[in-house]
Amino acid sequence: MVELSLPQNSKLTKGKIFGKKGKNMTCLKVYRWNRESGSNPRIDEYFINKKKFGPMILDALMYIKSYIDPSLTFRRSCREGICGSCSMNINGTNTLACLKPLPDSKEINIYPLPHMKVLKDLVPDLTEFFEQYKSIKPWIKNGKKNKKENIQSPEDRKKLDGLYECVLCACCSTSCPSYWWNSEKFLGPAILLQAYRFIADSRDKSQKERLEFLKDKFKLYRCHTIMNCTKTCPKNLNPAKAIANIKKLQVSS
Ligand code: SF4
Ligand code: F3S
Ligand code: FES
Repeated sequence: MVELSLPQNSKLTKGKIFGKKGKNMTCLKVYRWNRESGSNPRIDEYFINKKKFGPMILDALMYIKSYIDPSLTFRRSCREGICGSCSMNINGTNTLACLKPLPDSKEINIYPLPHMKVLKDLVPDLTEFFEQYKSIKPWIKNGKKNKKENIQSPEDRKKLDGLYECVLCACCSTSCPSYWWNSEKFLGPAILLQAYRFIADSRDKSQKERLEFLKDKFKLYRCHTIMNCTKTCPKNLNPAKAIANIKKLQVSS
């Protein structure tokens, strides 16, 4: 089995410098780590001319990968905030690189999502996160093998607004201190928002079973209303509210 964690006592070191300071130049300081190298993680500095690429942080990273350093590794696909794959920590905030405009500052710090194992550079290991997603059974359960459309009224459909838009980027979960310390037992805000998305769906008939599954001092109740999740969500969703709604249903059911 491959060990994905950093070696003990590993230190973040200064890495390579590409390009140099100048007018219109911005410096991207990017976390680099390759577990196969056996070396400590390092911060590489890329001086790049803002005029040469599009307006978003992801455009800057793609420019670096295409023209300066093809070894830089990050995930991306849609470039418009839909696939959820380009999540990372930019200047201290978890967000989607494709939705984050390049700030005016001369220096930008880019790290992988915090408190996750790193596969390489800016790519976190989301295996556990998606196992947790699987555990909430993210599909409509109504005991029927539908051969026809499963109709929902416009009012019931509206109840899913603010939930269905979640792209499972994990920005919220990896900003939550409770998740940092208990990620193997606490489901975290992203997965709890997804759980509520199915609880709130009028076509689903397993609300009782879903609430029973979540009735657990770790899975749900490790949320202590810290609210980092809602503050950081790049899709402007409110996972803290979804969690509060689950807790209310736990009391009333
Ligand atoms: Fe990402 Fe927001 Fe969904 Fe959390 S709630 S996974 S931050 S889209
Ligand atoms: Fe964490 Fe959000 Fe609760 S930050 S503690 S999941 S309100
Ligand atoms: Fe798809 Fe950023 S590339 S969300």
